[in-house]
Amino acid sequence: MANAAVDQDKLNKLFGRVIGDVGGALGLLIARVGDQLGLYRAMADGGAMSSQQLADATGLHERSVREWLAANATAHYVKYDPETETFSMSPEQAVVFASEGHPQCAQGFFQNVVSLFIDEPQVVEAFKTGEGVPWSDRHPCLFCGTERFFRPHYAMSLVKNWIPALDGMQERLENGARVADVGCGHGSSTILLAKSFPNSTFYGFDYHAASIEHARERAKEAGVEANTVFETVTAKDFPGNDYDMVAIFDALHDMGDPVGAATHVRSTLKDDGIFMVVEPFAGDSLEDNMTLLGRVSYAASTMVCTQASLAQEVGLALGAQAGQKRLTEVLNEAGFSQIRRAAETEANIVLEVRV
Ligand SMILES: C[S@@+](CC[C@H](N)C(=O)[O-])C[C@H]1O[C@@H](n2cnc3c(N)ncnc32)[C@H](O)[C@@H]1O
Repeated sequence: MANAAVDQDKLNKLFGRVIGDVGGALGLLIARVGDQLGLYRAMADGGAMSSQQLADATGLHERSVREWLAANATAHYVKYDPETETFSMSPEQAVVFASEGHPQCAQGFFQNVVSLFIDEPQVVEAFKTGEGVPWSDRHPCLFCGTERFFRPHYAMSLVKNWIPALDGMQERLENGARVADVGCGHGSSTILLAKSFPNSTFYGFDYHAASIEHARERAKEAGVEANTVFETVTAKDFPGNDYDMVAIFDALHDMGDPVGAATHVRSTLKDDGIFMVVEPFAGDSLEDNMTLLGRVSYAASTMVCTQASLAQEVGLALGAQAGQKRLTEVLNEAGFSQIRRAAETEANIVLEVRV
């Protein structure tokens, strides 16, 4: 009976699309393998290589390398020349697969997504219990992949576009301000700001102790130990009461109690302080988010963000596609009345929030 209603053309199209997605999912694994083994980096100069030459250059097993190259060629991740039986990368392929630090290098994103396959049993369980999956229980590749993918985007926009878009903040930071970065993770945003504004002091707070350890290391490497302080503490408990700016980068929607966190932020700001809220780009409804970005965000949010929030007190679970309207309701509830979209990119919205 069920088959009687099936339109074979529609079924073929849907099946074809889903098999394409399977190819993409396997492509992530292939790309992640190549990243870990330095295969793309060895090819990135653009020179053509046989599988043997690539195996020699990387010290790896030729037969495995040859199959990996075939998988990449069929995915159009590398180029194949059948005449010479060699493989190479175009400049664009080299950016996406081998240019660490470039905003369009996707390896951090792949690392992040592959970790979700490892964590999948925890998420299945969390659907049954409603207890979520705490950030601290995730595979470490989630933290490293997030840092690796987000940092180049912050490096591109934060100091150059987002800070100047906040009323008077650039000047305050140049003169010397106190800033809290809450839910700072590995401290990418904290460190970028600390480097650009040496007269200001930056406090990075996160409830995940391992991330704070990592942030301290990163700050040391970046030479900004003198004007950064990192502390393990929740968004509702972080210390201080005279911040010129409190920022939350891609973390408000991960919090169990974003209203409680924003209420605490308000109590720590100077009267003329600014609350900077950076959230994933989204429209205000599911129908507004029927986009590729929406597809990626809702899936990531199902596997990570919603679970992270449900694992905490209140468990509001805003989701990564909350949108400005819902975020405004949360911020209003926390006592903020002035909310303005100061900037946006394809990936993020930046809100300037004041009492
Ligand atoms: C998606 S990560 C973003 C990290 C960082 N802000 C960035 O943009 O790279 C979300 C972060 O929020 C933190 N977080 C979630 N809930 C929190 C809470 N209640 N208090 C403090 N940090 C929290 C997590 O530990 C994690 O580091």
